[in-house]
Amino acid sequence: MPLLSDYDCLRVLDLGCGIGRNSIYIAENYRNKCCMVDCVDILDIAIEKLKSNARTHGVGKRINGILGTIEQYGIHKNTYDLVLAVSALEHVESENSFIYKLQEIKDGIKSKGIVCLVINSEIREVNRDTYEELDPQFEVNLPTEVVKSYIDNVFAGWNILKKTVSFQEYDIPRDSITSHLTTNVITFVGQSL
Ligand SMILES: C[S@@+](CC[C@H](N)C(=O)[O-])C[C@H]1O[C@@H](n2cnc3c(N)ncnc32)[C@H](O)[C@@H]1O
Repeated sequence: MPLLSDYDCLRVLDLGCGIGRNSIYIAENYRNKCCMVDCVDILDIAIEKLKSNARTHGVGKRINGILGTIEQYGIHKNTYDLVLAVSALEHVESENSFIYKLQEIKDGIKSKGIVCLVINSEIREVNRDTYEELDPQFEVNLPTEVVKSYIDNVFAGWNILKKTVSFQEYDIPRDSITSHLTTNVITFVGQSL
């Protein structure tokens, strides 16, 4: 949020927004200024809950819930001050869509705008009890170094504010079993020139 304090009017895009964990927080922080957050999610229940959460937090007019896929949502050039995609881009339909969307995000950012990406990579899931290997429930599951190189290529020349990889593991209930998931989570925050 400190990076966003200088804007009089903030235009934000949250791809794969879920129920608004990030977008509502941003809108609340801009409560006394001009702000519009475009929030895209494929799930109608996520968009409904997003809108009701936004109303509950008094920012209903600042949250624009858009039902659709990240792939379908065409990002207009030079439009946003901030684009967020938190645990979302790994759910686009293919590696090509992933690369295309990274480029579109870059082109959609205004001068001095910020991109914040959190992307899971090298995801493995095993049955916690039997250690049987499971199919990770992520459409794009790339090696960490490959995702990093795509980001480096697309955002070359930008001011890099954060670029980290953190190993994470947790248990997830999947039907009748519990999956143990491990992932290298890549966080990238960059500012355009
Ligand atoms: C792990 S959640 C993250 C939600 C939110 N970004 C957050 O940090 O709380 C992933 C979200 O992406 C959405 N999603 C998955 N595939 C999508 C797609 N192809 N297009 C749009 N949204 C998608 C899911 O419905 C879900 O709400």
